[in-house]
Amino acid sequence: MARDVLITGATGTLGHRVVGEATEAGHHVRALSRKSHVGYTGVHWAQGDLLSGEGIDAALDGIDTVIHCATQGTRGKDVVSADNLISAARRAKTANIVYVSIVGIDRIPLPYYTAKLRVEEALTASGLGHTITRITQFHDLIETTFSIQRFSPALFTVKGVRFQPIDTRDVATHLVSLIDRGPAGRVDDIGGPAVFAHDELARMYLTSRGSRRRVLTLPLPGGIVAGLRSGANLVPANPVGTIGFAQYLARST
Ligand SMILES: NC(=O)c1ccc[n+]([C@@H]2O[C@H](COP(=O)([O-])OP(=O)(O)OC[C@H]3O[C@@H](n4cnc5c(N)ncnc54)[C@H](OP(=O)(O)O)[C@@H]3O)[C@@H](O)[C@H]2O)c1
Repeated sequence: MARDVLITGATGTLGHRVVGEATEAGHHVRALSRKSHVGYTGVHWAQGDLLSGEGIDAALDGIDTVIHCATQGTRGKDVVSADNLISAARRAKTANIVYVSIVGIDRIPLPYYTAKLRVEEALTASGLGHTITRITQFHDLIETTFSIQRFSPALFTVKGVRFQPIDTRDVATHLVSLIDRGPAGRVDDIGGPAVFAHDELARMYLTSRGSRRRVLTLPLPGGIVAGLRSGANLVPANPVGTIGFAQYLARST
């Protein structure tokens, strides 16, 4: 059934994929951005700022389902933005807010993850229809851990840490399937097709770039790395993604 869907973070790494996928699935898509997107883009844009609340009531007018992909870093802004979204959704009688969360946020003490946990709690306590889906790291993020080291003679990776990266195209497919399901609360966590050690991913990255640089694996201390080493960021039992890291790299070169 075609629904009226608002996608927040529609210009982002994930959000722009969700806009395409939801449109292709036949939904009536409205895409939220803080900026003005004038001219023909093939997308119905709404301008609004979740942090200030400006434009959000208009963006939600007539909307059945929100896919909330917007995010703004580590200083708790995402919690304020989510509170504003929840209040506006209550006024607009929105049926379902789908929240894109991250696997292991309750076991890995990153401030960004703590904020995401607060958003999950706010949604659960809101009494509104909602769906919370925790997802593993995107390929783009893993690639960034390597591309930011482009001036280093070797690639540094973290010993004992594994990832199960997923492609944003697979995440978009999953999110659009949740539209039809309606409010479902916390659904099963999902991850990419395979689990790799950080240094294995680094070698795949170097191979895809034709680089002969070395990979160095460092044991790092601290609670965040300990959380990652424990595998709290993995969902090996639910490998939903179909596009592997090597395939992603081959397409992005
Ligand atoms: N990266 C990962 O590995 C990963 C893994 C699992 C889950 N996630 C989650 O997936 C979601 C999407 O991540 P992403 O990497 O695609 O994010 P991203 O590329 O950084 O995009 C962020 C988006 O948020 C929008 N935005 C920021 N502040 C806003 C505000 N105040 N009001 C309205 N829109 C605002 C931006 O739109 P404008 O600039 O156009 O306004 C932008 O489109 C996040 O919730 C993230 O935690 C990420």
